Amino acid sequence: MTKQTKLISALDVPELSTALALVDKIGDNVEWYKVGKQLFTHYGPQAVQELKARGKKVFLDMKFHDIPNTVAQAIRSAAIIGADLINVHASGGPAMLSAAAEAMKETGKTVIAVTVLTSMDHAQLEAVGITVSPAEQVVRLAGLTQAAGLPGVVCSALELPMLREHFGPDFLTVVPGIRPAGTEAGDQKRVMTPKKAAEAGADFIVVGRPILAAPDPASAARAILDELQA
Ligand code: C5P
Repeated sequence: MTKQTKLISALDVPELSTALALVDKIGDNVEWYKVGKQLFTHYGPQAVQELKARGKKVFLDMKFHDIPNTVAQAIRSAAIIGADLINVHASGGPAMLSAAAEAMKETGKTVIAVTVLTSMDHAQLEAVGITVSPAEQVVRLAGLTQAAGLPGVVCSALELPMLREHFGPDFLTVVPGIRPAGTEAGDQKRVMTPKKAAEAGADFIVVGRPILAAPDPASAARAILDELQA
């Protein structure tokens, strides 16, 4: 394995003070944090800026999906407030993805795309008029993402081999649904350990509850990092 898989800790908590207390407790071990819709809707740019003030890198998980101009402008705004990694929905289509790629080049930030949400199974896709299998839809949308000039996708660990096969080793993969051995899966159905995800070539793993809900979040994060480096 030539590349080092990085850890992104997801700050899925209702209060910014709780999130920042966790970040301070975890300390220098973790560089990347994910701010999602829950924290951002309540606290806005402050959530990102407080992390940047602590020297952290921020994945702003807003999954933008709108007309091309609006998405490009939202990416520019995310860049202004300090987000390092930003995402959009690949199902916004080729024009939207190209506009996102343009904004990415301009801002120097990294923009990736969500293909099919892991909450969508065959029946859910069919209900919105998509009759191909979830896997086929993932490959189609990842293809549009790459063709538009975006560097990669958010994907489940189980999709890693398929994406590597179609899009090569340099296609960026950000992988949630990670559970260290012996931790609760919770609502995640298809999980993988940090070590297995690293072996499958994940560039980043996103970990929420196994760190947030641990009695000692700092040592839970340390254990995950040790597993990634093993
Ligand atoms: O607590 P847990 O480790 O399951 O958190 C995973 C994080 O990754 C959550 O913030 C969740 O919203 C996010 N995510 C996911 N599956 C996706 C996309 C994002 O679990 N397909």
